[in-house]
Formats: sequence, C-alpha cells, structure tokens
Amino acid sequence: MEHTMSTPSALSIVVIGASGDLAVKKIFPALFALYCRKLLPESFTCHGFARSPMSDEQFRNLLKEHLTCRYTPGETACRQYMDVFLNRCFYTIGRYDSVDDYQNLKAAMEKHEPASMQVTRLFYFSIPPFLFGEVAKSLHAAKLSEDHPGKNACRIVVEKPFGRDRSSSDALTRELSRVFTEPQTYRIDHYLGKEVVQNLMVLRFANLIFEPLWNRNNIAHVHIYWSEDIGTEGRAGYFDKYGILRDVMQNHLLQMLALVAMEEPLNLNPESVRNEKVKVLRAISPVTLDDIVVGQYTAAEYQGKQHNGYLGEDGVPADSITPTYAAAVLKVHNRRWDGIPFLISAGKGLHDRKTEIHIAFRHVPANIFAASTSIPAANELLIRVQPDAGISLNIMTKVPGLRVALRETELNLSYAAAFTGEIPDAYESLLLDVIQGDKSLFIRADELEAAWDIFTPVLHDLESCTIPPQPYPFGGHGPKSALALAALHEITPL
Ligand code: BG6
Repeated sequence: MEHTMSTPSALSIVVIGASGDLAVKKIFPALFALYCRKLLPESFTCHGFARSPMSDEQFRNLLKEHLTCRYTPGETACRQYMDVFLNRCFYTIGRYDSVDDYQNLKAAMEKHEPASMQVTRLFYFSIPPFLFGEVAKSLHAAKLSEDHPGKNACRIVVEKPFGRDRSSSDALTRELSRVFTEPQTYRIDHYLGKEVVQNLMVLRFANLIFEPLWNRNNIAHVHIYWSEDIGTEGRAGYFDKYGILRDVMQNHLLQMLALVAMEEPLNLNPESVRNEKVKVLRAISPVTLDDIVVGQYTAAEYQGKQHNGYLGEDGVPADSITPTYAAAVLKVHNRRWDGIPFLISAGKGLHDRKTEIHIAFRHVPANIFAASTSIPAANELLIRVQPDAGISLNIMTKVPGLRVALRETELNLSYAAAFTGEIPDAYESLLLDVIQGDKSLFIRADELEAAWDIFTPVLHDLESCTIPPQPYPFGGHGPKSALALAALHEITPL
C-alpha cells in the first residue's frame, strides 16, 4: 500500500518470543531490511524478550545468521550496516507472565528512548495465542500498554491463529481488548503483504478493462490454489491442533478471495478498504460438509526421497484426523457473484509449491470459430502470487499460416522481467505499515469474525463427527475426491 502515514520520530520495537523461528528468520531480517532502506527513524532500538537465557551478544549472533545484504550489496558496506543495526538490538530474559521481567524490559527500553521525543512502542507478539492474555496483562501492569499523547504511543502486532473457531477467537479478542484498543491492535496476515496480493486492488481498480467483465455474466469460476511440497517441518505439534483449514484457508486464502471478490472501496482509506472486505465476507455462506473435501498425506517416495506420512511425523498422534489438505467451494451471495463457485484448495505434501489465483472466463457464446477448430478455449486470467510472481492472460490466437487454425496463447507479465529491484518480503512491507500506522493490510475485528463464521460450522462438523480425511500420497495432487468436488461445479482441475 501507499505509505501515506508518517514515520514516528523515535521507535522502540519489542519482539516477545524473540528466540523463536518467526522472530529470528522473518521479523528481525525484515527490520534490518527497513533499516538498510533508511525506512526506520534515526532513533530506534529493537528489544528481544523471551525465556531462553542469552546475553545481548549471544542474541546478536543469533540474529546475524539470518540477516541478508539484499539492500546493501558489498561486503564492507553490508558489515557496517549489520554492525550498527545489531548494536541497537538488546535482549531481556523474561517469563511471559512476570511483571518484574517486563519492568526490566521497560528499563532497557527507556535507557535508549530520547526523553525529548514522542516514542512509538511496538510490541510484536511472536508467541502462541494462549500466551496473548498473560502477556497483555503483564505489559499493562508494567505500564507499557498505554498511549500517552505527546509522549508515547503503543501498538501491538499479533499473529494468527486467532483462536480455533468463532467463539475462541471472540474470547481472544475480548482478552486483548481489556488492555489494548482496536486502533492499537494490528492483526497480521502475511499474505496481505505479498507484492502480488497487494497488486490485486491495483489490477482491478486502476485498469479499465477488467472491472466490466468481473462478474457472474463473464466469469465461470474462480480457483485459488495453494500448495506446498513439504510436510509440517518440525511444526507438527502446532499444526495438529489447527490443520490446514485454520492454518492457511480461513486466513491467507480467504483474504485473497476477499480482494478478488469485493466491491471497489470508496477510497484507499484503511477503513474504506476493510469495510468492503467485511461486506463480501459476510456475503459468503458458511461452508457445509457437502462443499468440502479434506485429505491427509501418506508416506510415499517423492523426488527420489522417501517421505513420512503425516501420521508418521514426530508429535502427531497415530489416530490424528487433522487435515493436511482441503478443497472447499464457497458461494458469494450478492448481485455480482450469485451462483459462481469460488474453489479454494490448499495442501501440504503436494507435488509443487505455489499460490495462484485463476479467474476462468466463460466461453464465447455462439463462437463462429467453433466449427473450424476444436472448441476454442475460454480465456483465463492467472495471477501468480508465488513463485515467479506475475500475471498472465490466455487468449485465442490465429496460428500464423495459410489456414485458419486457432491456438491458446499467453499474454504474460513476469515481475522478474518487468521490474528491476528487489521485491520486498511481506514482513518488510507489513512492519513498515505498523510503524507508520497504516492499518489497510491488517485484519479488523469484524473481518476476523466474518472469516470465522464461514468455517466454524464445518470445522465443528468435521471434528464432532470425526470425519476421516481422505489419504493421498506425499508428492501427489491431493485426494481424488477433490477432483469430484471440482467436477460437480464444472471446474477443470489444475
Ligand atoms: C504460514 C503457515 O502462515 O504460512 C505455514 O502457518 C505456511 O504452514 C506458511 O507454510 C507459508 O507462507 P509462505 O509465505 O512461505 O507462502
């Protein structure tokens, strides 16, 4: 998004759960990237807070391993940037529920905060949600949570999963809201920071040609496809409690769907954008058991290597029915989309890793070329989120020659070919938004409620009826019944 908000004059960033993977591999490298691009204020410090005993020096060494020189090429320049950045990183050992430990953190922060400036204090909750309440309470007791106009402003960033269903999510929201106001709360979904996802609004609303076609009269279906060719990679303990529906579907895929299906916002004001997203999410009826297929990968050889099945991964109970794959058909009940299936599918342990949005247009009615060639293909707009970010449009073209023969060809925009320069990581973009106070790409409380309302009933049904997921071999295309679900809605599988 356009960063129209302002950068604070002084900034203290605290990462709670600073020794974890997310902090070390994503959050600190993103902060370093912002520093290299001169997007952090002159006066900033970063503080790690976690239980593992570590000195500042050890913490800096841990962070250093994952910092990259993308924006500061050249060994000497890069080293200088790293040294300055790391010297502004500090570590406080602390228990998450200990007010005394947060007092120590506060003292460490105040040591570096210029007394003469307004300081923005940003707390990134890089911890499991069951700790959110404790941490919020302790921050409050240590007097770190309040905004003091003219002196300091406080913001928190919280990561999904926000609960397991509508009621646990509401409980979490209530718990956090006892300490932090909605304007202070930034619920992050890192897919909204991905470059191509940010481009969805631009593609639709800054071009003339798509919007008149963007409706049930011209679009036959939409398929949002997400796949990974890896398993749970040491996160089975977390994953088994949530499953693919809560891990990526209810958030990442649904957010992309909202951006594809929503109406044009009044303007780019964060509230206007989020109003439209909420509106379209509320127009989606809750998924039922008839609209969904769930699967779980089994042991198989893939790319010359034997892979465990999900049930064979460390930390997964032998009788787990947690889905590692799901495909669901969503219906948007409004004038623009009535009757058009939105297929969203997501799986781990599949044959590729990609995220794509396929907009399948209808066939040309009474096509005059239908007689002279095999049935001309319908147009398709493909939005490639990752890898190989890009957009392509399939069109029918006459094959050069003396006969009339048609072939499907591609108008292809590849980001790598069209744009020079680094594509920022999603976390860089989103952290900058938090620092500047731009909430457009963060999930508002009512948006979260609407997203849970779509999936809560089916999650309860799947779990209370202990419906077993369909097995599929690791490295395959997912369960066969997903093909049947697609066929039922006349969707050609990818
Ligand atoms: C996370 C999920 O939100 O997104 C992971 O918890 C998933 O299971 C990850 O692997 C994918 O993110 P990305 O940016 O690598 O596509």
